Amino acid sequence: MIPSFQRISQSLPPRLRPTFFLGVPVFFLIYLLLYFLSGNSKSPQLGWCKSSDIYGEIFHSPEAFKLDYAQMEREFKVFVYPDGDPNTYYQTPRKLSGKYASEGYFFQNIRESQFLTNDPNSANLFFIPISCHKMRGKEVSSGNMTTIVTEYVESLISKYPFWNRTQGADHFFVTCHDIGVKATEGLPQLIKNSIRVVCSSQYDSGYIPHKDVSLPQILQPFALQDSNIGLKDRSILAFWAGYRNSKVRKQLVHKWQNDKELDIQNNHIDKKNAIMVYRTKFYRSKFCICPRGSQVNSVRIADSIHYGCVPVILSDNYDLPFNDILDWNKFSLILKEDDVPRLKKLLKGLSNTQQFIKLHENTVKARKHFQWNTPPIKYDAFHMVMYDLWLCRHVVKYQIF
Ligand SMILES: *[C@@H]1O[C@H](CO)[C@@H](O)[C@H](O)[C@H]1NC(C)=O
Ligand SMILES: *[C@@H]1O[C@H](CO)[C@@H](O)[C@H](O)[C@H]1NC(C)=O
Repeated sequence: MIPSFQRISQSLPPRLRPTFFLGVPVFFLIYLLLYFLSGNSKSPQLGWCKSSDIYGEIFHSPEAFKLDYAQMEREFKVFVYPDGDPNTYYQTPRKLSGKYASEGYFFQNIRESQFLTNDPNSANLFFIPISCHKMRGKEVSSGNMTTIVTEYVESLISKYPFWNRTQGADHFFVTCHDIGVKATEGLPQLIKNSIRVVCSSQYDSGYIPHKDVSLPQILQPFALQDSNIGLKDRSILAFWAGYRNSKVRKQLVHKWQNDKELDIQNNHIDKKNAIMVYRTKFYRSKFCICPRGSQVNSVRIADSIHYGCVPVILSDNYDLPFNDILDWNKFSLILKEDDVPRLKKLLKGLSNTQQFIKLHENTVKARKHFQWNTPPIKYDAFHMVMYDLWLCRHVVKYQIF
């Protein structure tokens, strides 16, 4: 070692020898300093730049999200078309409760946020504020809903120049009820070009991944508040109760209804007392099964996350909310619908591992992203939807001559 060190230095021109003798130890000292600052990892890294908890773990790329989210807060602007009578189906939400509350919160939150602009020329995106949930409340038939949506959007197209600039590619609307999605089908360009923010994000329901945005379906308010989200009282391996209204649910009940460790119940709980029993199960279980239902199916997913129960997704072709921001594999178990027969083996194998503890920890971290607030707060469901829309803003602007 030493002779070769000398040999190297002697092979250098005399002028460079002092630099070499000084330079090597100094470089070595800097290396050591970085080594200890980076928390003894294998090679020096800038340890003090580690991402904070807010962005860590459950994001695909925390650092990219952090920078882009900050830019969104500074720059993102949405223009809301002012037309339509607010007393009918336009502008304001029907309500902020129930299982279609996500739609109501979005309508309310966008106005309470800094993203709203009155200047269409500074807008990145245009919001078509027609609430299909409110139409449902006024008992409009689904056929008439289609007509109302079509006429409204056609009136915006002829009154304003914005739609024609991009053929609607920078326009979006929000609907949580799957009938609302049907109501947009009278206008082919609306389906093809605009961004549909919907709770029914099943690929086989006309949802177009990468163009459309999956809105999380969240039953509001949550029946039980924050206690017991830890692991301590979770003695049930896995829980599901509900209607047997899809193939996978029928299989689930058929195979596991009488099992001693999986708590699978074929019934729906409507009475107030029973709802509490039902919610309590979310606190007592390690895993909560979220099988595809007849239509939209994600209320149970948001419930599981809220109650700290690791969701088990059993729904092929479902675009999970915030899928391109959050890494669902970090806080849920995504199985195939065909996995029902192997369910117990899979869950039992996982339930006593370090991996499960990590999954549960991350489920708790995901909670705040599935919570609506009024006014909205950073990183909540509203901001995550806005971030998804922010990612859609680079649309092709067709110039129409
Ligand atoms: C649907 O529209 C027609 C024509 O405007 C109206 O006569 C009818 O009452 C509407 N039906 C419902 C259920 O809204
Ligand atoms: C946009 O294009 C449609 C179809 O070509 C046309 O009917 C409408 O008047 C145009 N809108 C504006 C504001 O020029």
